[in-house]
Amino acid sequence: MDKTVNYKALIGQLAALTEGIPYEVANLANASALLWQEIPGLNWAGFYKMTDGVLVLGPFQGRPACIRIPVGKGVCGTAVAEDRTQLVYDVHQFPGHIACDAASNSEIVVPIHVRGEIWGVLDIDSPHIGRFSEADREGLEGFVRMLEKVL
Ligand code: SME
Repeated sequence: MDKTVNYKALIGQLAALTEGIPYEVANLANASALLWQEIPGLNWAGFYKMTDGVLVLGPFQGRPACIRIPVGKGVCGTAVAEDRTQLVYDVHQFPGHIACDAASNSEIVVPIHVRGEIWGVLDIDSPHIGRFSEADREGLEGFVRMLEKVL
């Protein structure tokens, strides 16, 4: 599988799709669809938003998923608790990983901030062990920085 993604182009597409659009659900829905369409080898791509102190499922592509994730739990809750990207080579080696879809073998979770506060996370899963690299981390963090402008 060719795992190469042109993140510069992807971020440009996101900018074009979201610029001037003041609707959060519309922007997140299009962002998840774009990731799903452009990144090879995924089984889930979407968002969790901090709501009343827990992460709550937002727009996504893939199978139906867990609705609430407490801060500090799973890969998503750890990304919030530590306030940094979690790049997980093999989810079965990650203590407390939450298996929403049994097909997932690797995962990357990027925290999202709005006005200096944690807003939620971008979560992407792959059925391939070690799907995500440092290049994906850099690209997806850039994607999130662009998305933050419209949240
Ligand atoms: N695996 C995540 C849960 C969310 S699903 O992957 C969509 C976690 O451990 O936080």
